[in-house]
Amino acid sequence: MSTAAPQPKANQGQPEPRIDARLKVTGGARYAADIPLSNLAYGVLVTSDIARGQVRSIDFEAAKATPGVLDIVSYGDMTGIEKPQFGSAYTSLGPLHDRTIWHDGQIMALVVADTFEAAQDAARKVKAEYEEQHPSGHFGSAGTETIPAKGHAQRPKENPSAGDFDGAFQSAPVKLEAEYRTPTQTHNPIELFSTTAYWTGKQLTICEPTQSLYGLRGEIARQFRMDPADVRVIAPYVGGGFGSKGPSTPRTAIVALAARRLNRPVRCVVSREQAYTTMPYRAPTRQRIRIGATPDGKITAFSHEGWELTSRIDNYAVAGTETTTRLYGYGSVASDVQLVKADRQTPAYMRSPPEVPYVFAVESALDELAYKLGMDPVELRRVNDTDREPIHGKPFTSRHLMACYDQAAQAFNWSARNPKPGSMRHGDWLIGMGCATAVYPTHIAPATARVRLRADGDVLVQSASQELGTGIRTVAGQMAAEQLGVSFDKVKVEMGDTELPPAPVSGGSNSTASVCSAVLKACQQIQERLFRAAVASNNGPLAGRNPADLAIRNGALVAKDGAAQKLPDVFALLGAGAVEEYAEFIPDGGPHDAVQKLYQGKLTMTGGPEGKKAKYAYGAEFVEVRINSRTREIRIPRLVGAFAAGRIMNTRTARSQLMGGLIWGMSAALFEATEIDERTARTINRDLQDYFVPVNADVQQVEVILLTEVDHEVNPAGVKGIGELGNVGTNAAVANAVFHATGKRLRQLPIRLEHFVA
Ligand code: MOS
Repeated sequence: MSTAAPQPKANQGQPEPRIDARLKVTGGARYAADIPLSNLAYGVLVTSDIARGQVRSIDFEAAKATPGVLDIVSYGDMTGIEKPQFGSAYTSLGPLHDRTIWHDGQIMALVVADTFEAAQDAARKVKAEYEEQHPSGHFGSAGTETIPAKGHAQRPKENPSAGDFDGAFQSAPVKLEAEYRTPTQTHNPIELFSTTAYWTGKQLTICEPTQSLYGLRGEIARQFRMDPADVRVIAPYVGGGFGSKGPSTPRTAIVALAARRLNRPVRCVVSREQAYTTMPYRAPTRQRIRIGATPDGKITAFSHEGWELTSRIDNYAVAGTETTTRLYGYGSVASDVQLVKADRQTPAYMRSPPEVPYVFAVESALDELAYKLGMDPVELRRVNDTDREPIHGKPFTSRHLMACYDQAAQAFNWSARNPKPGSMRHGDWLIGMGCATAVYPTHIAPATARVRLRADGDVLVQSASQELGTGIRTVAGQMAAEQLGVSFDKVKVEMGDTELPPAPVSGGSNSTASVCSAVLKACQQIQERLFRAAVASNNGPLAGRNPADLAIRNGALVAKDGAAQKLPDVFALLGAGAVEEYAEFIPDGGPHDAVQKLYQGKLTMTGGPEGKKAKYAYGAEFVEVRINSRTREIRIPRLVGAFAAGRIMNTRTARSQLMGGLIWGMSAALFEATEIDERTARTINRDLQDYFVPVNADVQQVEVILLTEVDHEVNPAGVKGIGELGNVGTNAAVANAVFHATGKRLRQLPIRLEHFVA
């Protein structure tokens, strides 16, 4: 057992290596744009070089004259095709439906050619003339419009509040007020965005990396006014999504239309550069926190206000106040979220969309409060820990936040920290240590699965979930192996195709809980059939027993007293070589038509603060920074995180997820920002040369501690999501460590060397 595969404790699952590990490292795993097709044509997007205005004319002559060019899809060609629907699509913008330009790099055409090179060459020759209008790209830009998120955005449903904040804040002996800013960030999954489409008669097949196969199927069927059953979406593996591949995008219909016009398969792989403007991003935020407290650190008043940037045409909001107002036992609470509409494309989900920016503000503010009070930051969290969320007083299904702090603090050796800013040094390097809370709501969604067990013990699990690198194939397979009493190597898992039974979007960190709950249910149905056959037999070893007393282990049915019957013998009783069960899992309190909606690709995800009890996973993150006193270079030698997230299905994949989260948290704290030109509202840095992300040399020691947490209430699998837990809080832990190292409080991300130069 290595550190990469921590020894499972208590209810934790085995660190099975990923079921697709070999396929992936040998290049055998097929990604959507790798699927071979004959007679393939290649599409390249033409995008606008203004952010606001009208396309007066667009000249395709030179492009059309380029050898190999087959077709150009542009304005006027989308007749009969519906615009995308905001929600299932990240934007309601149908870029080719009319000539209005709403954002930089907006799609104006798709050039299709025999080869990728010809398409690219021709696309460059397209010339557009615009009637340009002055764009507003920033919070501060003249011409933006500010509206309340409540009543306008899909979220929030409310601005959570409790008690009399104003009164409590006013009378609080200690007050803190501070403003924080977070930048635009752009998803850069390793696998580029792409669509491949082909028609077989009236049936459309889409190969596209997506976090929601059925969601994409439903949305494309709606746009083309087709029966969803005539659309198939395939993505056997997805090379990272982080939210960007969750909702559908306008590109898919354009490529599908090109394929229909040419009656041949068309593939469009979007360049990294064009992804910065044709795909969504994490919206920048501004936030204000006000905290009132007693001298011993008890918070009596908490207010969190947020401003988020969105587009002119869609009111996307993350409204992380839903989580932050429930994070501690605050007493009275107030919150508000405003949307600032600008000439940008619509933002969308990025890994822990609400929590990452909003928890940065709260956890920075708590560190500021700790210093104001002369308190240890961990003790400040302890004083304000709670067993009920403060908005509606709901208990948590489980909450082990302080246990996370205690374990992480010990592993980090927090007690060796001298809290005085600037007091710890090593040669030229200023040492800083900071910590912060990680939190993520536990979501659950309806899911279906089909499981087949053969007499020889071979198992097949089928579910149209999406493997984004999270390990869902592996953990779904583990659940089946465990339930059907076979070894993991007997299990095969099929995912990534709408021909399989539907699973929810791989978003909101719901998949392990939802898909494993469906697999669990299908396996229980198989068990039931086998148990009933065994007890009903006339003279078998288990005849006449109570089915409830049976279990299935190591290829046999076993009773409590040790009597056993081998699987092939039970199958012989059934007169079958295999037993197959399809199961529909509907979460407690889910709508009666939850499964029907799932088939239509409509999301009914619930969790977090909803329901009788609040459901959250927690963690505590500790960061050491070193800042060179001469050059101000910032290094992070250590990241330690301890997490309590219900049942861990696989300690290896869980550690990997959380380690990735910590590293992304560091990345967001020190590196990432998409820069928008003030004058033109255009994206300046649009590739991995200028959009900074950490490299291996930036990542040193990363330690992940997996607490054992048994939670039977959260969902049948007992699992909380971890995919979006690890990168929450890290930003604040880094900023807090930077303050400890330097005495300089930085309330704006990313934190870069220039912020230390006067
Ligand atoms: Mo995740 S940002 O919910 O795909």
